[in-house]
Amino acid sequence: MAHIQTDVLIIGCGISGATAALHLAKNPDLRITIVTAEEDPHESNTYYAQGGIIYRGDDDSPELLSEDIERAGAGLSNPRAVRILAEEGPRLVREFLVEELGVPFDRMPGNGLERIKEAAHSTERIVHVGDYTGRAIQEKLVEALHACPNIELLTRHTAVDLLTPAHHSRNRLTIYDPLSCVGAYVFDQATGKVDAYLAKKTILATGGLGRIFLYSTNPPTARGDGLAMAYNAGARIINAEYVQFHPTAFYYRDQARFLITEAIRGAGGRLVDERGKPFMHKYDPEWKDLAPRDVVARSIHQEMLATGSKCVYLDLKSYLPADEIKTHFPAIYQRCLEFGVDITKDLIPVVPAAHYHCGGVWVDEYGRTTIRNLYAVGEVSCTGVHGANRLGSASLLEGLVWGVRAAYDIAHNLGELGCDPDDIPPWYNGNLTEVADPALIRQDMATIQHIMWNYVGLVRSTRRLDRAISDLRNLQVDITRFYSTTKLSDDLIGLRNAVQAALIVAQAAWENKVSRGCHYRED
Ligand code: FUM
Repeated sequence: MAHIQTDVLIIGCGISGATAALHLAKNPDLRITIVTAEEDPHESNTYYAQGGIIYRGDDDSPELLSEDIERAGAGLSNPRAVRILAEEGPRLVREFLVEELGVPFDRMPGNGLERIKEAAHSTERIVHVGDYTGRAIQEKLVEALHACPNIELLTRHTAVDLLTPAHHSRNRLTIYDPLSCVGAYVFDQATGKVDAYLAKKTILATGGLGRIFLYSTNPPTARGDGLAMAYNAGARIINAEYVQFHPTAFYYRDQARFLITEAIRGAGGRLVDERGKPFMHKYDPEWKDLAPRDVVARSIHQEMLATGSKCVYLDLKSYLPADEIKTHFPAIYQRCLEFGVDITKDLIPVVPAAHYHCGGVWVDEYGRTTIRNLYAVGEVSCTGVHGANRLGSASLLEGLVWGVRAAYDIAHNLGELGCDPDDIPPWYNGNLTEVADPALIRQDMATIQHIMWNYVGLVRSTRRLDRAISDLRNLQVDITRFYSTTKLSDDLIGLRNAVQAALIVAQAAWENKVSRGCHYRED
């Protein structure tokens, strides 16, 4: 069977993958293929970003932005990467998002971009589209992708494994070469077929792993796919223990349903207990409700433990008039109403939830991983910008900057396919016919989520991490057996990746005995 060949294969379609694709596509001779497991290409972590993206304040400078990022990162940010972000990011927001794509950021009277301030930023520098910035950006990106004749966008296509000659080639002498990537095996959900997509360069842009935790602000496919694939291929992973928990996800019937932006607290909203009493002053007398995310998230956790309650509340109604609430937070107002909560009159029930993976696949300043011809951009990667804790509204900017940088490097160093296509065998499925039982997949996923939430969550200890690693290892044995004896499906691929990603995070958390940023050890 002939393999599918392209110049650049991009796995994932949020801001980082789409930005890379659109910049590469400026060369009409390049063929770019994007695969996404989703049916709707809008569906990505980018789509759910509410607050905004860092731009530039009136009294701002790259130095001031760098200081804020490094302070939030608890001293673990990579200074070179931070500098790149701070110097190049604001210009790209203007040139690419505002001028080229026409993202409809909110404007002030007089037509300048409206800028707001969020927790831990020292000036008003965040641009936004209401409280649905990610959605507005993603809509423009997808529109532009569809308009590019040299971009093929394949939905319901799930990457299964990265193709590395050392692992997959029939030519066994390739094991003596440095590790390299020549594409990926990709599962077509509609036909059930797996094809080898061969590419001169491959970009991982699969987003994060929030969904391996019980409560998360992320969409269902944020299950660590890219991290697990890169790990299996032999890429270097760093800072995996640093998982950022957002303090406030809307809580309804034992579930975290969606993000409640911290811009609500920026606008004056306060965290309160079930009697309506503010409590953040007890945990951070100086910054109170606007303390860094990790501090607020752990304070809520502590408050819930102390009071035995299942959630805490955000009080916005006492601090902002109803018409301003509806104007500034239209999407949140609507979503909460769907669950019977009128935020102009009611307290908003919230819990902390896994939000962003600050660690990931090690990359350099152009998104190059330790595997030749494999790049990683966006949340799946670790440039080091976020250190031990990410500054709000910095992730979209990082995806933008590194999407452009990866495209630049690829355009100047495309080269040839790093293997003889005939050496890559077609996918072998062993003629499996048994369909995976969805009840087993759901239960295994729920087990992973509970283990991660209870033992590898906001507060960690050696005992909890020991237990997590041992439980996850046992589960991985079962899941691997399950995976190799039933027909492939997107859920099964996700489950295999989720348990691997969970082990990577738990192991890194176990090894790091020092509390810093969003990695907190009570022992
Ligand atoms: O609270 C928020 O709007 C989240 C922003 C972010 O994660 O950058």
